[in-house]
Amino acid sequence: MYQREGNLYADSLNLNKEGIMSKVLIKNIGRLQTPMGSYSHKGKEQGENNKIDNTWILIQDDVIIAIGAENNVPTNLQDVDKEIDAFGGLVTPGLVDGHTHLIFSGFRQNEIVMKLKGASYLDILRAGGGILDTVRHTREASAKELYIQAEEAITEIMCSGVTTMEAKSGYGLDFDNEIKMLNVIKELNEKTKMTLVPTFMGAHAVPPEYAGKADEFIEMLCEEIMPYVKEHELAKYCDIFCENSVFNVKQSERYLGKAKELGLGLRIHADEIDAIGGSKLAGEMKTASAEHLISINEEGLESMAKGGTTAMCLPGTSFYLGAKFAPVREMIKRNIPVAIATDYNPGSCPSFNLQFVMTLGYLKYRMTPEEILTAVTINPACALGLEKEIGTIEVGKKADLVIWDAPDMEMLCYRFGTDLAMNVIKEGEEIE
Ligand code: NIG
Ligand code: FE
Repeated sequence: MYQREGNLYADSLNLNKEGIMSKVLIKNIGRLQTPMGSYSHKGKEQGENNKIDNTWILIQDDVIIAIGAENNVPTNLQDVDKEIDAFGGLVTPGLVDGHTHLIFSGFRQNEIVMKLKGASYLDILRAGGGILDTVRHTREASAKELYIQAEEAITEIMCSGVTTMEAKSGYGLDFDNEIKMLNVIKELNEKTKMTLVPTFMGAHAVPPEYAGKADEFIEMLCEEIMPYVKEHELAKYCDIFCENSVFNVKQSERYLGKAKELGLGLRIHADEIDAIGGSKLAGEMKTASAEHLISINEEGLESMAKGGTTAMCLPGTSFYLGAKFAPVREMIKRNIPVAIATDYNPGSCPSFNLQFVMTLGYLKYRMTPEEILTAVTINPACALGLEKEIGTIEVGKKADLVIWDAPDMEMLCYRFGTDLAMNVIKEGEEIE
């Protein structure tokens, strides 16, 4: 058996060899499919997955220690503590949802009526609703209430195959409430099995007390909240909503510049509705990701390709807003690494169903199943700074895996609306 890190194939299982302490064996894998390597995949590589049929995976504690060769049946199993039968199903890395607004209070189903009367997303926000409506409810909610609502969501999300997700603040918009949200994320990270990557998004909207004073609000975020967030390690990244009627490019540059100075990672909601220069700034500042990009233009595409920024595309939001879909084929053609995520939030995508987002990836972005798998595993893992630990099935990586009630990725992209996750394994432990 080969034990060296990076060596994918083991020719046989010799579990009696000294030094090998086997624990969990996943057997009867019909197809193992995974991107390879700990870097973001762009261009042609976005669509390259490794596929091994009729194989197995061996896990010790929380780490993958061996993977079978094709058509390989493990023998000599006496040291295995536990066997998990994949029943001939597909096994992929645990999915990574790279963009969510997981913590909030108050769904906004009332907006349906306004939308049916013709109000747009920004009309509702400008009238003091939308994000600001959720801000009112989130400010009123206790940390415990926020925790309980998010914990319930996490349980369902994990059972559907997501083992890592990003979570943003941004419905507090003042010191106490932003910190309250980030502390809830911290507690969820400690107490649930989900790995949560926290993002400070104080610049999500201008709160009523700063109406007409967006510059002053940005200064307050940069000088009062962000240093505290950094000092108490409450966030790994900072994000801003760069959009007409919200924050302009200059304000975004100031906010992200401060984040960079403090050593925090960068993201930006860019070109969701209008292309005002957010994606261009993303490339120039080499942000880890730029989000949405529905209206990205030539300048933005060029800048992102040059800066190596990951395009975090959110087709569930396009679907729910009845908007255009981001030009993903063009992005792949131009060597921009693409990730796809849910954007789970109470306004523009009240669904955390990443499997549905994968179907939209195929239907609306015209991505291949291989490109989609890369877009929900290693590419978002890179955008979250976790590429060395997760995002692929390789010896030495965390045993975050999903066994699907499906023979292949095609089935997963095709049967929208049905949860096909049969067994989810997080750091070597079964979730369901
Ligand atoms: O990514 N556009 C800004 N933020 C979220 C929506 C938040 C909300 O409407 O509550 C988004 O779409
Ligand atoms: Fe978002």
